[in-house]
Amino acid sequence: MTVWRRELLGALERQRGDRSALFYALATVEGGSNAVPRVRYVVHRNFLGNTDCLLTTTDMRSEKGKQIGVAQRVPVELAWYISAERTQFRIRGQAFLVGAPDATAKDVVAPQTEGFWPESQNWSAERVHMWQSLSPAMQRSFLGPPPGMPMSSTGSEPNLENTTEPRGDNVSPNFAILVIEPSEVDQLDLSSFRRTIYTRESTGVWTQGEVVP
Ligand SMILES: Cc1cc2nc3c(=O)[nH]c(=O)nc-3n(C[C@H](O)[C@H](O)[C@H](O)COP(=O)(O)O)c2cc1C
Repeated sequence: MTVWRRELLGALERQRGDRSALFYALATVEGGSNAVPRVRYVVHRNFLGNTDCLLTTTDMRSEKGKQIGVAQRVPVELAWYISAERTQFRIRGQAFLVGAPDATAKDVVAPQTEGFWPESQNWSAERVHMWQSLSPAMQRSFLGPPPGMPMSSTGSEPNLENTTEPRGDNVSPNFAILVIEPSEVDQLDLSSFRRTIYTRESTGVWTQGEVVP
């Protein structure tokens, strides 16, 4: 296991009673020539199997969903401060969404592996598995009006209680896994005042070096 992932998993394990330890701020870029940064919190769901890829979930129709998109990799950066550990992880890399399977395709549309996961990776099963791990209330949020839509144009007050009960195997087409493939990790430990940069070389091997905090 890569050193930074072991460090991060160790911190999460020690703080497993603190749900807020799972929140990180994810930055994306919006727009082409007039690019602007956008940032928001998301909740860390898991790593993809035994790989370094971070998984969270989102609504395809959200702004970040549109900024990231399916079947392409876009640059992202996240900042994750685990306060009880006094440690910050800044993770830079590429992201993409895994959405509903294409009607004509055998599996979901997902970029080729770049050495992060096995060729046999079953994204469809992973998506169903992540959907099933959501609470019914969270599942219902993917069945309502698009995020960001003015309440006045939704036609009615949202009443999540009355929305059709989602079924565990009936994944909303709006539901996506957001996959982050890290290429650089910057770990700052404020208790020891040490900062380590981990870099993924083109061979897939990680190197690391200590820098001035
Ligand atoms: C603690 C916390 C955790 C959140 N987790 C998620 C998440 O996992 N996925 C998600 O799409 N939005 C999550 N949100 C909501 C986003 O921060 C954001 O408000 C919403 O997704 C719309 O963002 P966008 O317009 O940039 O797409 C979370 C918000 C908070 C405060």
